[in-house]
Amino acid sequence: MSITILGIESSCDDTSAAVIRDGILLSNVIASQKVHEEYGGVVPELASRAHQQNIVPVVDTALKRAGIDKHQLSAIAFTRGPGLLGSLLVGTSFAKGLSLGLNVPIVDVNHLHGHVLSHYIKRTEEDIVPEFPYICLLISGGNSQIILVKSPSDMEVLGQTIDDAAGEAFDKCAKVMGLPYPGGPHIDRLAAEGDCLKFRFARPRIPGFDYSFSGLKTSFLYTLRDNIKTDPDFIEHNKADLAASLQHTIIAILLDKLSKAVEHTGVKTVAIGGGVSANSGVRAAVADYCMKQNLKAFIPERSFTTDNAAMVAMAGYFKYLDNKFCDYDDAPYARVTV
Ligand code: KG4
Repeated sequence: MSITILGIESSCDDTSAAVIRDGILLSNVIASQKVHEEYGGVVPELASRAHQQNIVPVVDTALKRAGIDKHQLSAIAFTRGPGLLGSLLVGTSFAKGLSLGLNVPIVDVNHLHGHVLSHYIKRTEEDIVPEFPYICLLISGGNSQIILVKSPSDMEVLGQTIDDAAGEAFDKCAKVMGLPYPGGPHIDRLAAEGDCLKFRFARPRIPGFDYSFSGLKTSFLYTLRDNIKTDPDFIEHNKADLAASLQHTIIAILLDKLSKAVEHTGVKTVAIGGGVSANSGVRAAVADYCMKQNLKAFIPERSFTTDNAAMVAMAGYFKYLDNKFCDYDDAPYARVTV
């Protein structure tokens, strides 16, 4: 009998619902919230209210696009954490209510596991997925981790950021350049036209597989501050070169630790995930590194790099196969690592 999972994602500022049947994606609907743009960051209260408005039409659309009736669902998977508590509560409460109404089990999903397991989402039976074990470089606005993935339920964090996440480094530096939030995609676009060796920024010296981006951030800020003294339009005159040099440094920091983790573990497969894995430079650098080292690279579709319910449904599908369900009194959580 087919297993059909409805996934619900509401951890931050995207309301998303998706349907997966026997591992094949049938629909993935994402409603992004524009309301935060004018504030330069996500406003938690506004995010919760927008989720409340979006969740019913988003789930309804996902079911319709999948061509299934809600009574055909085997289970409902939802993001339980980490994320904004008010936002998580909307998805969690909706999933619990729907599961009670339909009399199907609920499966709680760790959002980070969703990103890691997004490589298993298939559009057709022929799609190729990673073999275990593999290393996943999880880089988003809230997390930067190197994870050894031994199975869908067995993941070991080998290294992580000790301060800012990679996405924060992009966004905070973009902010001091006067770029809109989130700045990552703007840096990516500008970097394509800049000289990545024009400016040099600090790189951390941290032992092991951990990262740090705070030194880079400070060094970026000081470069602007010092140069603005002699050229008040320094940022405007050097926008593309600043973006390219910043992106180049972030990639070098990420690749340095990723390559050390690969050597240490001897794995032959590398995947990337999370919002920053949409970055053109990161994608090209990881693909190039893997090609030179004779490793298999899994670079996600751009639609699976941002927050989406397809990955939640996929992670939920694995847990369903393992009979790992959650209780109605299991509450959402704001923080956790893998
Ligand atoms: O995984 P994600 O959608 O959500 C959270 O972690 O909340 O990641 C969002 C992050 C932001 O910091 C955003 O600037 C970054 O991903 N991002 C990018 C690009 N697209 C999104 N960073 C660099 N280049 C991009 N093309």
